[in-house]
Amino acid sequence: MQYQSHFRVHLEVVAGNAEPAVYNVAVTATRMCALEGGWVISRSLAGQVGFSAWSIDEVMAWYGWIVASATPACDHLRQDHRQMEEYLDRLLTALSHISPELVSDVRGAVTSLQCVETLHFEKEESLFYPKLRPAFPDLLAQMDLQHQDIREVEQHVAEMLADTPEIPEQRWLDELRRSGIELYDRIQHHIVDEEDQLFRVAGNHLTPEDQETLASAFKKIQSGKSQG
Ligand SMILES: [Fe+2]
Ligand SMILES: [Fe+2]
Repeated sequence: MQYQSHFRVHLEVVAGNAEPAVYNVAVTATRMCALEGGWVISRSLAGQVGFSAWSIDEVMAWYGWIVASATPACDHLRQDHRQMEEYLDRLLTALSHISPELVSDVRGAVTSLQCVETLHFEKEESLFYPKLRPAFPDLLAQMDLQHQDIREVEQHVAEMLADTPEIPEQRWLDELRRSGIELYDRIQHHIVDEEDQLFRVAGNHLTPEDQETLASAFKKIQSGKSQG
């Protein structure tokens, strides 16, 4: 999978006469990516602060540094997704070798997943989706449906785990594996759809101010929960 983020960067010219300036750039995890106005960054920015860039037409060298993310709201939600994927991986590992001894690992992964997901869905459903719904009603209806599907199957898994037999039979373990893998698939599918479709249109549709406002509201939801 290829991840893309947008950043606001400060560019200093190394060769040429242009003035230093702040640009919005799209950065991918691959080696080459286009900047606004036809610039190319020569190496991945993932995890890096500084970078070099050359213009396509004039082969002019620049260097710069990231000032701030230009899409802080989408980046915040992406970070939640990465956290959820960590728990999803743990869930899948436990499910793929399921045995009575591994049921507690499944329970741990599902509980951790639910903690992140509850806040994440609140951020999306109370703030992010309503902001985008008027412009993209069909896409948002699809996202709502996916949340609903995730909740349904997650409730089933949680109920099974809450009522685990003292000595689980193979049939019960098979059902836990089937439902757990379905939960894994639905969440992973939703994350991909959101990042490929929703965050892409949000990146173009929302203003930098919208992004900032949403990002600070997300942080409030996050810290409200941490304090509670
Ligand atoms: Fe979502
Ligand atoms: Fe999400």
